[in-house]
Amino acid sequence: MAKVTFFSGQQLPLEMHKVRIIQKLNLLPIEDRRKAMAGAGYNTFLLQNTDVFLDMLTDSGVNAMSDQQQAAMLIADDAYAGSATYTRLYDKLVELFGMDYFLPAHQGRAAEHILSKTLVKPGTYVPMNYHFTTSKAHVTEMGGEVLELITKAGLEVTSDELFKGNFDIPALQALIDERGAESISYVRIESGTNLIGGQPLSLANIRETTALCRAHGILTVLDASLLADNLYFNKTREPQCQDMTIPEITRATADCFDIIYFSARKLGFGRGGGICIRDEAVYKQMRALVPMYEGFLTYGGMSVREMEAITVGLGETMDEDMINQGPLFIEHMVNELDARGIPVITPAGGLGAHVDAMRFLPHVPQQEYPAGALAAALYIASGVRGMERGTLSEQRDPDGTEPMANMELVRLALPRRVFTLSQVNYAIDRIDWLYQNRELIGGLKFIEEPEILRFFYGRLEPIGDWVETLTEAFRRDLGDSL
Ligand code: F0G
Repeated sequence: MAKVTFFSGQQLPLEMHKVRIIQKLNLLPIEDRRKAMAGAGYNTFLLQNTDVFLDMLTDSGVNAMSDQQQAAMLIADDAYAGSATYTRLYDKLVELFGMDYFLPAHQGRAAEHILSKTLVKPGTYVPMNYHFTTSKAHVTEMGGEVLELITKAGLEVTSDELFKGNFDIPALQALIDERGAESISYVRIESGTNLIGGQPLSLANIRETTALCRAHGILTVLDASLLADNLYFNKTREPQCQDMTIPEITRATADCFDIIYFSARKLGFGRGGGICIRDEAVYKQMRALVPMYEGFLTYGGMSVREMEAITVGLGETMDEDMINQGPLFIEHMVNELDARGIPVITPAGGLGAHVDAMRFLPHVPQQEYPAGALAAALYIASGVRGMERGTLSEQRDPDGTEPMANMELVRLALPRRVFTLSQVNYAIDRIDWLYQNRELIGGLKFIEEPEILRFFYGRLEPIGDWVETLTEAFRRDLGDSL
C-alpha cells in the first residue's frame, strides 16, 4: 500500500482490498439531524444508528470482516465443551504469542474482571502507561490504585514524538525505590494507548519497562486490544523493527510479558476476548472464574462463529496490508485537518482522529463540556457521530465536585475497512466548516445526570440558542445540501 507512488505526486492511502458487501446509509437533512440530536439529549451515545450517516463512535466490534473470516464462520464447531473451534483459536494464539495457556472471555472488560479479581491486592498499585475506563474501574473495584506513568509527550496534544504511548521508566523505577516492588500488583502496558489518541509504544520501551519489572519480580500484563495498530507503527516508525516481519515483532512483544489480554472486538475483528498466560500456576488461579462468570473453558461466553472469525482475523493481523488501512486513513484525516489549522492530536495514531475541543472552542469553559458540545455540533452539521472523551466522561468525586479532564477530545474512530476515502473527506470538509463557524458553538448543561457512567446515559441541553444559529449558518453557506 505505502509503496505505491502516484504519478500525480499526490499522497493517498490505497486500499489493498475490495468491498463485496455493502450497507446502505442514510443522510438526514440538517433540520432532522437537529431534532434527532435534541431527542438524544445532545449525547451521541443516545442517537439511533438509523439517524447516523458515518458512525465514528468506536472501532469496537464494528470493523469490516474479510471474506476468509466470513467463510470460517460456516465451519464453526458448536459444542458446549471441547469444541474444535476453540482448539483452532488456541493454536493460533500459541503460534502468535508463544504462551501455553489461554482463557476465553466474552469481551475485553470480562478479561479485566478476571485479571483484577485474581491479581489485584487491596492497597496496592497498578502502574500503567495510561488507563482505559474499564481497566481502571476493575482495578479500583478490587481496592487497587491505578498510577498513570506516561512520558510527558503523551499528554501534549501536538508533538513530533513518534511513540507518545511510551511508559515513563524513571517514574516506575522511582515508585519501586520508594514503595517497594511488593506494593505493585502488576504493571499493565496498553499497546496503542486508547484515551490519549491511540498513541503507540516502541518495542524498545516495552523491552526496557518489562526488563525492569522482571528484575524486581513484578508481573507484567499487556493489553493487546489495539496491538494491530501498534505493530504497524513499530514496523514503520522504529528503526530496530524495520527488518523484522510483523510476526517477529508480535513475538518479540509477547516475549516480554507474563500475561496478554485483549478485546477481540478490536484485535481479530470479531466480538470476544481472552487472556493468554505463560505460567501454569497463574493460569490455575484464574481458571475457576471463567466457568463462573463467562461460560465453559472452551468458549468463555463467545459464539463459536465469532471464535472462528477471530482466529482468521488474528492470522490476518500478521499481514501488513491488512493492518495498515486504519493507520493510513487516520494519518490522511489527521494531516488534512492539521493542514486546515484544526487542532488535532499529532502525530496521527491508531484508532481514529482526535480533535482537541479545548482549542477548537476556547470560549466554552470546561464546566460546559466543550468536547460534548463539539460532538453534538458535528453530528448536527454532518450526520457524523463521534465520541466525547473529556470532562463528561469523568465521574464526579464522592463530595460532588466535578474533576476536569486532562484533555477535551472528540474521538472520530475509523472502524477498519468500513469507510471509503470520499466519506472521510466529507467528514473533514464538515469539520472544516464547523471550525470556520466555531464561534457560533456554545456549551451544554446536564438535565439528567446519572451517578455512574454519566456519559453513556446522561441527557443535556444547549446553553443558549446556538443550535438554531448554527443551523441557520449551515443553510446560508451550503444552501439545500444535505
Ligand atoms: N482495553 C482497551 C485498550 C480498549 O480500547 C477496550 C475497549 C477495552 C480494553 C475493553 O474491551 O469493550 O471488549 O470490553 N474499547 C472500546 C472503545 C469500548 O470504544 O474504545 P471491551
